[in-house]
Amino acid sequence: MARTLIKGGTIVTATETMQADVLIDGEKIAGIAAGDHGWEAGADRVIDASGKYVIPGAIDVHTHFDLPFGGTYVSDDFETGTRAAAHGGTTTIIDFAVQVKGERIMDGFANWMAKAEGNCAIDYGFHMIVGDVNPDSLKEMDAIVGEGVTSFKLFMAYPGVLYSDDGEIFRAMQQAAESGTTIMMHAENGIAIDVLREQAVQRGNTDPKYHTTTRPPTTESEAVHRAIVLAELAGCPLYIVHMSAKEGVEELTRARDRGANVFGETCPHYMVLDWEDHVSAPGFEGAKYVCSTPIRPRSEGHQEYLWNALARNDLQIVSTDHAGFFYDDDLHGPRKLGRQKRLGEGNFTLIPNGLPGVEERLNVMYQAGVVEGRLNLNRWVEVCCTNPAKMFGMYPQKGAIAVGSDADIVVYDPNASFTYGADTIHMNVDYTAYEGMEISGKPAIVMSRGKVVVDGDDYVGTKGDGRYLKRGPSQMLI
Ligand code: URP
Ligand code: ZN
Ligand code: ZN
Repeated sequence: MARTLIKGGTIVTATETMQADVLIDGEKIAGIAAGDHGWEAGADRVIDASGKYVIPGAIDVHTHFDLPFGGTYVSDDFETGTRAAAHGGTTTIIDFAVQVKGERIMDGFANWMAKAEGNCAIDYGFHMIVGDVNPDSLKEMDAIVGEGVTSFKLFMAYPGVLYSDDGEIFRAMQQAAESGTTIMMHAENGIAIDVLREQAVQRGNTDPKYHTTTRPPTTESEAVHRAIVLAELAGCPLYIVHMSAKEGVEELTRARDRGANVFGETCPHYMVLDWEDHVSAPGFEGAKYVCSTPIRPRSEGHQEYLWNALARNDLQIVSTDHAGFFYDDDLHGPRKLGRQKRLGEGNFTLIPNGLPGVEERLNVMYQAGVVEGRLNLNRWVEVCCTNPAKMFGMYPQKGAIAVGSDADIVVYDPNASFTYGADTIHMNVDYTAYEGMEISGKPAIVMSRGKVVVDGDDYVGTKGDGRYLKRGPSQMLI
């Protein structure tokens, strides 16, 4: 088994910052020591990490690859998506297998396993979207735990597509309470939102910016509140995905303060981008930033509130909700998906919802969080690498620099700098939401289970080396 020594770096974990070397034996971390350990002689490769941080590989617990959505398909599949993730320092993703109406959960899961198997550059797991809550699928929610799926996403939004009503949600929550699994919630009042969208279009308000105004903060906070009440009644852990409204986080904080097992994630785009500058951009450019929950006005204080909530642990995780769509026609990419964001020209309700971002998360959080003084280094690692592993039952195999953990490691160079643009990304999409953002940091080496998969700007991994991860119950519960 190959032995690699990472020498001279500063190890940064969720709790510690220390000067020490890391010995990797095969796929695992075999030793951590400072000073004269004598490991260099027996190493097949020595990586010089002086002046760099050595952190656990980042984990993105919310991606959508190869998903049919919004009248088209997301533009990344498991091959292009996981390769781009690796470029950005992410070494594990959890994607969403989907059970659609009339389908069995096990069939949806098998479908997504087939999409991923043999294609991934990094390790991967699945949450299950339960799109059809019925007596059979409730039973299957238990059965699929044996496959390592311990979290289920439900939707209070998208009526007629993935939406579940309160009774269905409550039954699924009761099932999760029995099996010790976690309910993930897309918390928006989709019924009210559909009325507002219809009325906006009738008034001729069809530009992308109306995507946000027809999803006001109360449509998010009401749903967050309702989800929390139902979860507390059912007795299951609840994880609210992609939170963007300060009023929603206030609901979450109140529940956490009384000891409820409720958790929240946000995404870099909600903290860094702004409705006025981005979603309301001239022409149809705003379509690039249409996602749900929506990007909100900075002038209302949401962005600052999210940063503070993240720093004080009212929010626990930063994911990407990666769901990329080409802005223009995808005529030349590997999938030739045709018109994507432009499907909604003249009617914002037809713009496919979602932003690409699996590649940029760690860097954007380093720049806007650490460099710009909103998060310390350890919290950066905690929200991007360690809490995701704990929340979804993968710790300490993932999310840690510790003896016995998988050698998923990023050697991060805080002295590198670059500017995001369509030409600096590796995702299968024609834009980055962070166009023009200057970043003072970059992964220099990315390792997945002891193998270097990204060396500088080069992908040196192998398609299919990523392995399916069977997950256990959440390790974040109070
Ligand atoms: O706009 C979004 N969030 N698209 C992806 C699907 C979802 O709701 O997570
Ligand atoms: Zn969602
Ligand atoms: Zn999503």
